[in-house]
Amino acid sequence: MKVSIIMGSTSDYEVMHGAEQFLADFGIEYETRVISAHRTPDLMFEYAKALKGRGFGVVIAGAGGAAHLAGVAAGLTPLPVIAVPMQTKTLGGLDSLLSMVQMPTGIPVATVAIGGAKNAAILAAEIIALLDPEVAKKIDAYREAQAEKIRNTTLPPKQ
Ligand code: RP5
Repeated sequence: MKVSIIMGSTSDYEVMHGAEQFLADFGIEYETRVISAHRTPDLMFEYAKALKGRGFGVVIAGAGGAAHLAGVAAGLTPLPVIAVPMQTKTLGGLDSLLSMVQMPTGIPVATVAIGGAKNAAILAAEIIALLDPEVAKKIDAYREAQAEKIRNTTLPPKQ
């Protein structure tokens, strides 16, 4: 199952690359596109409508400000949509977060933290893992390594 990573602008790419890196490490196929719900609404419609038929299983959508990308995608495809709110200069990303998280009942979007592209990819991998035992094994190993690192952490004596 493939993951679609979409973002509203090339200016979002530095953050969204974090999702690409995690999926690549896990051997999960993905496609990345810049699509704007506001600047390219026709492309948005066409792209999101075709996703399920093209074999995608999850959508990760990053956008900032009046961030409608994830919500519009969720209205157009039955696939689960994970939103990544971008940090913004004017309002710190609270604008993006609230635009994404306050969806109307019936069209959910799973919103991660501001700038949380990696967590979006982990969540996408966990969804894929429900049907893919290889990905499930990698998730288990990733979590165990993370826990082991904390278990092995010793703090140096405080000066
Ligand atoms: C949003 O507007 C994009 O997702 C981006 O975060 C923000 C600013 O876009 P640019 O003006 O940098 O293209 O649609």
